[in-house]
Amino acid sequence: MEELHGAAADLLREHFQRAMPGGKPHAIMLSGGQTPQPVYDRIAGEPFTPPAGLHLFLSDERMVPAAHPDSNYGRCRRMFSALGLGPDRALRVRTELPLAQAAAAYGQDLTNLLRAGATVSLGLLGLGADGHTASLFSREDALGNHDRLVIPVHRPKPPDRVSVTTNLIARIEHVVLLVAGADKRDVVARLLADPDSTPAGLAVRGARLVEIWADRAASGGYR
Ligand code: 6PG
Repeated sequence: MEELHGAAADLLREHFQRAMPGGKPHAIMLSGGQTPQPVYDRIAGEPFTPPAGLHLFLSDERMVPAAHPDSNYGRCRRMFSALGLGPDRALRVRTELPLAQAAAAYGQDLTNLLRAGATVSLGLLGLGADGHTASLFSREDALGNHDRLVIPVHRPKPPDRVSVTTNLIARIEHVVLLVAGADKRDVVARLLADPDSTPAGLAVRGARLVEIWADRAASGGYR
């Protein structure tokens, strides 16, 4: 898993340091969950000052305060401050708002970034053992909402979520599904064999380049 974390940290570092022509904004999407945490910690431990145009945003968020241990934004805060990124460049879902308003506000933030000409050069996504990615848990989550960049996702058990949509993911030049652990082996095999059988496969179908970066345990020996 060390090799995977190192490679992912190198990829992020390379993209974080890209300057866009004409001073255009540059956006990178980060995944939530546990898997990328050691990668973000590595970046936080070897800080650098990225170009002024860099903006980071999360693929999804749980409707909890940033200080809550489950907050995806909260898990990235150490990296954001190590990179010197304030709230204008490390975009946060405003979970203090009601769910629909939090999703609408985050969608507006991402719309503004794209309207300013941002290139989304890279997007990290996680993969749940049930085949979800971001907070797109069903075919309907993945296939609906064509015109929106962000949606509210009601969950059977709290917390509810806010998630980017397939439409937003389709704007990303290079999507990497970062996967680790033996519990993900079956879903990685399913995703490779029949992508449209999983919400994750449906969610990434519009992106130009999609890769699965998996550790040995999750890849079941695929090379
Ligand atoms: C979240 C994520 C979610 C996550 C997968 C994998 O907020 O939980 O965005 O899509 O990436 O569930 O989670 P792990 O990396 O913790 O296995």
